[in-house]
Amino acid sequence: MRSWQWLVWSWFGLQVVLGQNFYDLDPYIIELTPKSFDKVVHQTNYTTLIEFYAPWCGYCQQLMGIMKKAGKVLDGVVQVASVNCDEPKNKKLCGRYKVQGFPTVMVFRPPKVDLSKPVSERLQLRNHASEVYQGVRKLSPMVDFALSRIKNYVKRVNGTGKLCSVLQEQRRKSLVLFSKRDKVSPIYRAVALDWLGIFDCFTIPNAKLSALAQDNQLATTNPQISQFLQETIPRQMQSKESLLVAFDTANDQYRAIECDSFTKLQISKALSENFNVTPMEGPLSKREKYLQNLRTGKEKSQKTNKIHDEP
Ligand SMILES: *[C@@H]1O[C@H](CO)[C@@H](O)[C@H](O)[C@H]1NC(C)=O
Ligand SMILES: *[C@@H]1O[C@H](CO)[C@@H](O)[C@H](O)[C@H]1NC(C)=O
Repeated sequence: MRSWQWLVWSWFGLQVVLGQNFYDLDPYIIELTPKSFDKVVHQTNYTTLIEFYAPWCGYCQQLMGIMKKAGKVLDGVVQVASVNCDEPKNKKLCGRYKVQGFPTVMVFRPPKVDLSKPVSERLQLRNHASEVYQGVRKLSPMVDFALSRIKNYVKRVNGTGKLCSVLQEQRRKSLVLFSKRDKVSPIYRAVALDWLGIFDCFTIPNAKLSALAQDNQLATTNPQISQFLQETIPRQMQSKESLLVAFDTANDQYRAIECDSFTKLQISKALSENFNVTPMEGPLSKREKYLQNLRTGKEKSQKTNKIHDEP
């Protein structure tokens, strides 16, 4: 072996020894410790997929590639994390969740927030329910399982009349996706989590729209919004694209979210700039900075988080 090759190989060996955690260098997976666990996993409205592992275990090594892919696919939608149970400081944590074999994959599911109650009466910071993933350790069943555990706060609206009454009843600001699709994408459900308690999220398929009469119920209370809807709905009925609009009925204001692509970052930017609000979670939130640091400060782009991407 040439000496430079030897150098490269021994460098690799060194990395394997030094990087004692599997995912220290992964930009999408958070290596949890007793210090970060509760804040990352329990103090959020997001769902988390966690692998409890030991570095020496062969099945864990096999799962590593799949976890890395899952982290990427679920980015911005479900948190993906891991706990190295071989690490002495983590042993209690693994005991607390009754981890017996490696790897153990679990999903932590947030409690539902009752937004109809005033903030002071809502249950705060209740722990998430944990559930062991018993299915096949393959990418798509694991991803589907995690996605099925996202709390859904997006309400479907099935017609123009219903949309008007929903807007009229709103106590909060609302975000309406006039959607080219029937299905609610996981990313839009994540947008609803980012803005929980600030914007209520709705979706209405373009196909369910019908023209809005001039003397509709919003015309007196919200003349500007009413006019906007009268102009926009006929266009949207013909459209093959989705349109995202934020409404503030208390002030009779609306804003179509102009994005070249509907990423979580662009949506958060548009909403915070136009309505002077900051998101609870996700891009531009305080929490996101904290999470970024835990992901070892590795920069990652927000490129893939489009409303209609299909994780
Ligand atoms: C979930 O969202 C609600 C509404 O914004 C908020 O009051 C609550 O604190 C959030 N829960 C956690 C654990 O962050
Ligand atoms: C919308 O749903 C209601 C029941 O929730 C139903 O009665 C109504 O026909 C539906 N309208 C459309 C346009 O699908």
